[in-house]
Amino acid sequence: MNEYLDPAFVADYAAFWAPHLRNLTSLLADSLSGQVAPQDTIVDLGAGTGGLTSQLLELGPARVIAIEPSPLMSDRIAPESALTVLNRNAQDLIAELVDSAEHVTAAFLFQEQSELEMRGTLDNAARLLKPEGQLHVLAWGESQMIAPGAHEEALWDCLDELGLGDEEGETMAELAPNALAQVATDSGFRPKVTEHIETLEIPRHHFLRYQARLNAPHGGPTLDELVLILDARLPAEPARIECAVSRLSGRL
Ligand SMILES: C[S@@+](CC[C@H](N)C(=O)[O-])C[C@H]1O[C@@H](n2cnc3c(N)ncnc32)[C@H](O)[C@@H]1O
Repeated sequence: MNEYLDPAFVADYAAFWAPHLRNLTSLLADSLSGQVAPQDTIVDLGAGTGGLTSQLLELGPARVIAIEPSPLMSDRIAPESALTVLNRNAQDLIAELVDSAEHVTAAFLFQEQSELEMRGTLDNAARLLKPEGQLHVLAWGESQMIAPGAHEEALWDCLDELGLGDEEGETMAELAPNALAQVATDSGFRPKVTEHIETLEIPRHHFLRYQARLNAPHGGPTLDELVLILDARLPAEPARIECAVSRLSGRL
């Protein structure tokens, strides 16, 4: 089952991950300030509970359109007159929004997607953007999302004590920065990658409680992460966007 359609997971996500991720999405919002004009439209792909979405609204564009397939997640986005929420997948063409956006954003979306879906999403972003429009991506980098090692043993002990030690943990897909830039290039973008080393500090007891509740015995209590911001601009002359889906399905 998709965890974002599970009410218990979504409640945990909203209480635990959302506040931590907001500290990181503010990096992306800050990098956009000064680039957003009052008449602009921003499409936010994989908006979740609206952490980045609300930061984008604060930049004062005419419209922000949040694309989020799970209504359980999007119901938690604070309503606003400039905001439209669409319960759609980022890789599916949103015909009514083609050529409408100055900016498309995607924060912590790609770890949820297969490579095929990621390529579909980037092709879609290229279609939604006006010529010279920009795509801004915040994604987990190459390092482990949750670093194994030092704290792992203590975590296992703790989970064993709670009788939760045997379940198989989730794994997060990882995306190498160069791979993301390459896929963006394939979709007609001129990517510029900015890397930020950030540490997302999560209190140990907080993390252990979260892991125990999710029954997910992996990792340690802090996230030492390489966070990647990719700013990609479409050329003024719209590049011919190959359909990545058919290209890839030819290979499968
Ligand atoms: C980690 S959350 C996103 C965080 C959010 N961008 C923020 O700023 O707080 C990942 C979100 O991606 C959504 N998602 C998963 N697959 C998706 C897809 N194919 N298209 C769009 N969103 C998707 C999930 O439902 C979830 O809400």
